[in-house]
Amino acid sequence: MALTSGTRARLHFGGDYNPEQWPERAWGEDVALMRDAGVTMVTVSVFSWSLLEPEPSRFNFGWLDRVLDLLWSAGITADLATGTASPPVWLVRAHPKMRPMTADGVWLEFGSRQGYCPSSPVFREHVRRLVTAMAEHFGEHPGLALWHVSNEYGDHVSRCWCPVSTTHFRRWLRDRYGAIEGLNDAWGTMHWSQAYSDWSQIEVPRRQPGPGNPTQLLDFARFSSDELLELFNLERRVLTDICPSVPVTTNFMGMFGELDYWHWARHEDVVSDDAYPDPADPKAHVTAAMNYDLMRSLRGGQPWLLLEQAPSAVNWRAVNVPKPPGLLRLWSLQAVARGADSVMFFQWRAPRYGAELLHSAMLPHRGTASRIWQEVNALGGEVGRLSEVAGSRVRADVCVLLDWDNWWALDAVESMPSARMRWRPLVDQFYSALHRLGVTIDFAHPAQDLSRYRLVIAPNLYLIRNEDAAQLTTFVLAGGTLVVGPFSGVVDENHHAHLGGYPGPLRDLLGIVVDEFWPLPDGASTRVEFHAFDAGHLSRACAWTEWLDVLDASVVARYTSGSLAGRAAITRRAAGRGNAWYVSAVLDDDGMDRLFVDVFSELRCLVNEMPTVEAVRRDGPVASYLFLLNHGDRPAKIRLAHPGTELLTGSPIADSIELAALGVAVIRQSNIPGRTGVGTQQ
Ligand code: GLA
Repeated sequence: MALTSGTRARLHFGGDYNPEQWPERAWGEDVALMRDAGVTMVTVSVFSWSLLEPEPSRFNFGWLDRVLDLLWSAGITADLATGTASPPVWLVRAHPKMRPMTADGVWLEFGSRQGYCPSSPVFREHVRRLVTAMAEHFGEHPGLALWHVSNEYGDHVSRCWCPVSTTHFRRWLRDRYGAIEGLNDAWGTMHWSQAYSDWSQIEVPRRQPGPGNPTQLLDFARFSSDELLELFNLERRVLTDICPSVPVTTNFMGMFGELDYWHWARHEDVVSDDAYPDPADPKAHVTAAMNYDLMRSLRGGQPWLLLEQAPSAVNWRAVNVPKPPGLLRLWSLQAVARGADSVMFFQWRAPRYGAELLHSAMLPHRGTASRIWQEVNALGGEVGRLSEVAGSRVRADVCVLLDWDNWWALDAVESMPSARMRWRPLVDQFYSALHRLGVTIDFAHPAQDLSRYRLVIAPNLYLIRNEDAAQLTTFVLAGGTLVVGPFSGVVDENHHAHLGGYPGPLRDLLGIVVDEFWPLPDGASTRVEFHAFDAGHLSRACAWTEWLDVLDASVVARYTSGSLAGRAAITRRAAGRGNAWYVSAVLDDDGMDRLFVDVFSELRCLVNEMPTVEAVRRDGPVASYLFLLNHGDRPAKIRLAHPGTELLTGSPIADSIELAALGVAVIRQSNIPGRTGVGTQQ
């Protein structure tokens, strides 16, 4: 569903706008400055409940009518928030038990935001009434482009341990297992005398004396994601019933561990994201790229919306480093390169008070003389010049598997061979290696149809369902290449061990069996020698190795020091028309690069080695847009296989282009099937 209002395809530019924090006489200046900066859409009323409904059932919408009218008179549309992200004090004081409770049994006090239990029937009822009133009142406004439900679900409170949540958890478990015996089986309650005879005996996993039941913890993670989704869906249903033609979103937070965004994204019309890469982190652009690839993948490649980013520094890290000149532009266009159809910010005008007083804004306290304003203003013009990119799509023939169930299983369980084996660092490591090689990837769920990909990479499949393993086997037999990372195939969806040796249902496909996990102490490492393609190339394994017995596979690399010296570290098995690789170690960067050079050379596909220049292509119906982003601190010269026009400057480009440090080019070329067709000289 396209954004309504101003239906001309374009990239949106704007940010969160909080006019309620300012006297009405300032609004006119806001809108005039928005026009100057090329703003096309703003997010309004995110935290306005106490003004929208100052007393129970007394709705006060006049001020927001005037805001929307004023914006629309300047052609600016609204991403209209339902206002439910922060309940007003009258509601909380009347129903103090609607507040969220921590795992230690503490009710959280009013005075911040997101102060509600996701399961609270009272809260839900008041949400329903407010959203219904909002939809009925504003649903026909010509400037309404998008409904913005609540805000960043799970940011502060993703789980609640209160008595109401407990009741809902029991209901959720009953739906899942049917009978208490089913729950006892799934939870393995014969261990440590945990058998239940009645649903009423079950509690949410509050703080316990020792390690908790792994399946209880996993189910609580699943339940908590579902519970917030139920709350989102309550609002979505009201909105779509009353305004069926207005699309609905809620802003995600990149690769957020608490909510199963695959599940969530199915219930949205458009995915939207808030992105806060840290300017102090030299690899921030890699993490950002990963988040953007996920956002694009969540709805099958559909363009998504960057709804929030900081114009410069945030205020919630220990040290909040600003974005130096040029970085705002580079990082904004990086999101567009990876499929965003908007560049938006938190927030329009820096506030005079409140917890976000010193968070950067498009219009800082200093006003239009400030550097940030100058950069924002220039960027607005450039985003306007990229309108034709809207709606175009990024294509990838490599995907990385991501399954929240697996993530939760690996991270929730306390008693593991090594506390260093966590899901997110593993995926970061695999993604970084692919990014260094310039490979554009999608994310995919292991249960989805993978046949359009040539290469599927699973950084980790600690939890794997038999049917997903069967699907991966079919993918390989049909000609695909699969790379499976360490500590995989250990448990099923109930967190029960796959018997017969790891990696369980992937054992035959991979042609290996893991005899024992062999984690390394902190600071220790083991040498790994690659010999299939590059005899004698040495890399290192750190944190994790495994004792592998090779059943039916070629050995690509071996351990050459430590207890496992001489044993296989990386294997490859030709199966059907494809290949299945197993990587038993956490490798250093050199090892990861070596691995993927081997994988890609086996696939006979060239890889662009562009350490600082990111190249991503978006394909439209009549043209293709090559984004070149120089994240380095030196100029880079890029050779092009096809001529085109650089859209930011309007200049024709023949066979090469020079990018300044932090420079960006967006080159329109005629549609070229296949690869990016670039190389770099630096
Ligand atoms: C999130 C929230 C915003 C604001 C910013 C600050 O993205 O959605 O309301 O608090 O963080 O960075």
